[in-house]
Amino acid sequence: MLEIVTIVGARPQFIKAATVSREISVRAGSIRERIVHTGQHYDANMSQVFFDELAIPTPDVNLGIGGGTHGAMTGRQLEAIEAVLLNRPPDWVLVYGDTNSTLAGALAAAKLQIPVAHVESGLRSFNRAMPEEINRIATDHLSSLLFTPTATATAQLVAEGMTHSRIRQVGDVMYDAALFYKDRAKAPEWLGSLDLGTGGFALCTLHRAENTDDPERLAAIWEGLNRSEVPVVLPVHPRTRRALAAVGAVDGGSVRLVDPVSFLEMAHLLNSCMVVVTDSGGLQKEAYFNERPCITVRDQTEWVELVDVGANRLVAADAEAIASALQQFRPQIQASADLFGTGKAARSIVDELCG
Ligand code: UD1
Repeated sequence: MLEIVTIVGARPQFIKAATVSREISVRAGSIRERIVHTGQHYDANMSQVFFDELAIPTPDVNLGIGGGTHGAMTGRQLEAIEAVLLNRPPDWVLVYGDTNSTLAGALAAAKLQIPVAHVESGLRSFNRAMPEEINRIATDHLSSLLFTPTATATAQLVAEGMTHSRIRQVGDVMYDAALFYKDRAKAPEWLGSLDLGTGGFALCTLHRAENTDDPERLAAIWEGLNRSEVPVVLPVHPRTRRALAAVGAVDGGSVRLVDPVSFLEMAHLLNSCMVVVTDSGGLQKEAYFNERPCITVRDQTEWVELVDVGANRLVAADAEAIASALQQFRPQIQASADLFGTGKAARSIVDELCG
């Protein structure tokens, strides 16, 4: 029986892991998964709701390690994950994406000489000021098996000297998730009472440190969103809520702040909005899967394919630029079938792990 330990901790990882866990459960006779939740995200609407809604198996362990500085969080997670792995070493450790939990899991396993498989490998923003960029680079170099979502990601790993024998271009598990959950989308209860008018709305998320931790930048973004002629629905991350309060952001313009939404509620909002504005990696692609234009409030994106096909526009943290993009950026998008794989990434990943 092949044994896998999956490390998750933050919201996007729950969604990615759901697709692979479902595939593993189909092969329960030959492969067993233990899930370790680091506790990086701990609010019910940032964590438990995803386990419930996406039917992810209950974690075997929740380490309860969230908050604190990056070094402290990653270090405490490293120590605790090592103890779990030492207790019963698996055949593989599976990590997702680019969070502190990803790095802690990969490092703990690599130091114990347990092979690491990294899902969503090869992405780069080329901005080492982002904590996620450090996590991606280090995790890729620690991993034995590199599952890339796109040809760009594969080429990047090759350029960094990884051998082809370690790389598997399987497509994007987020595309698997988008296809699987599409028909189960559900409207948030509060949607009808938001007073959005009839002209459509923009869907916004904002949580990157580069935007939330720089008060001037955050104030400029807030002003741009509020100058928008289309109403902006913003399910707000706890980090961003605190940062907005700190810069004295007040309600009253175009933005409607709401609590974080579940994955199926997000699927509904993506399908019913007219445009997306975000700094999230995942949402940029989900906008594309739903054929919605995406305005990305960042200086660079890992998902360069979306900019190349004209579906995504990078916009500076400048009030006028954001307000005008919200008014004007309306490209016609026809999602191409093969940019992010075929929707069978999870199956290919489990095939490879089973060898
Ligand atoms: C993390 C990831 C980011 C990912 C994002 C998804 C890193 C470096 N960043 O960013 O790549 O896109 O998750 O959301 O790992 N907090 C709460 N409640 C929660 C979770 C967090 O209040 O349920 C607080 C934390 O205590 C902290 C802040 O929000 O003060 C930020 O959380 P953190 O886990 O550091 O990073 P994210 O911004 O969520």
